[in-house]
Amino acid sequence: MDKFVIEGDRQLTGRARVSGSKNAALPIMAAVLAADGPLQLSAVPDLADVHSLLRLLETLGVHAERPAENQLDLVVETTQPHVADYDLVRRMRASICVLGPLLARRGRACVSLPGGCNIGHRPIDLHLKGLAALGADIRVERGYVIAQATRLRGTSLFLGGPYGSTVTGTCNVMTAATLAEGRTVIEAAACEPEVVDLGNCLRQLGAKIEGLGTPRIEIDGVDRLGTAQHRVIPDRIETATLMIAAAITGGHIEITPVRPDHLVAVCEVLERTGVRIERSTGDDGLPALVATAPAALVATTLTALPYPGIPTDVQAQLMALLCRAEGISVVTDKVFPDRFLHAAELVRLGARIVREGPTAVIHGVPRLSGANVMASDLRASAALVLAGLAAEGTTTVRRIYHLDRGYQRLDEKLNRLGGQVTRSDDRPGPAPPHRAGDPRKHARRLATNG
Ligand code: UD1
Repeated sequence: MDKFVIEGDRQLTGRARVSGSKNAALPIMAAVLAADGPLQLSAVPDLADVHSLLRLLETLGVHAERPAENQLDLVVETTQPHVADYDLVRRMRASICVLGPLLARRGRACVSLPGGCNIGHRPIDLHLKGLAALGADIRVERGYVIAQATRLRGTSLFLGGPYGSTVTGTCNVMTAATLAEGRTVIEAAACEPEVVDLGNCLRQLGAKIEGLGTPRIEIDGVDRLGTAQHRVIPDRIETATLMIAAAITGGHIEITPVRPDHLVAVCEVLERTGVRIERSTGDDGLPALVATAPAALVATTLTALPYPGIPTDVQAQLMALLCRAEGISVVTDKVFPDRFLHAAELVRLGARIVREGPTAVIHGVPRLSGANVMASDLRASAALVLAGLAAEGTTTVRRIYHLDRGYQRLDEKLNRLGGQVTRSDDRPGPAPPHRAGDPRKHARRLATNG
């Protein structure tokens, strides 16, 4: 298990390259299970969640090759396996993305329930409701979802839940519906760019899909999906994290390649705190965003919402930023109302945060000071790293494996910008030997105490 040791209080300045989107790459990779031909992907990020899904896909009969860095060629070699085992699924919740494509192409799927998670209760009832509406026979037994259908049938279905739409649920149902008989209409579909990217890849494979990026997606089922070459969109969450790195360290970072249209809400809230955001073109000719910190950050109020709102996946990083902003900020998460484990760790760095249900109230402080902190989940670790970059002194962030799940070598990227982040092994050493007291003194103490 690795940890980061961060020497803080350094301005981050320069150019940074963003990797392909993790959350787009995962359901796209899983979609190969629904296709007959090879799927050639580029801009696939090299990170732990991608490796976990590759291991799972291999057990499901997929052959994978990496012809070059960030490229991935996938092809189904055998369609017999249909069991996604607990030992692989428990490593990553997004493994549930194999359910829809397996069921649609192989007629049966047996996928372990992903289990609990540190960012809150994460049911998959909407995934199951959507697939059942397509005619699948679904039951949950011994911790596994067992789904069967000779051929799925298109229908109209509503996928909204108490916290809005579901991203991976929309991915599962949309992919399954591409091979269903007839027309499927998904109402309250997720509009996230990662769902659109999956939809575009499915279209290249031969699927007929309209309405991507809107809450109403219409799919006309086809008999088979063929082959495709697809480039994964840039990671908007990594882009936002790097913009916040510039803002929190008083720095200036040009980030490329980016999709500014995916980051409108994030740019707007950063501008409210005083950060200057400019669009430009990077050295490589690709669209870039340049974030420049203000002399002093200003407090603000924000709410994480489904797209196009501020992403819940940037809530923790924005909270880290607001710890340094003058005044009182209010942060609410309406997607995962319990996603606040990072708040207590930010307090260890000197932040002043009070939580009230799905809301945190942050009193900005002039300085943070380095300390030992523990990462609880992927985006919480990013928030702690950002706070550590801005803090005076040394910050040690433990359980960095959470960060490695979703960021491709973030330490190296930050160091190229002037950060001082050292990765090292965090295996606990042997506990110091327990020194037994002097037996004569112990006997005297017993005698005097009666
Ligand atoms: C995806 C992202 C994750 C992001 C989240 C919200 C991937 C791999 N992960 O997760 O990084 O934080 O979207 O943008 O893309 N819900 C239900 N029932 C369901 C499914 C979800 O009630 O069947 C609830 C969840 O508990 C949550 C909300 O709906 O409160 C949104 O969850 P969802 O969009 O499904 O998140 P994921 O797809 O798991």
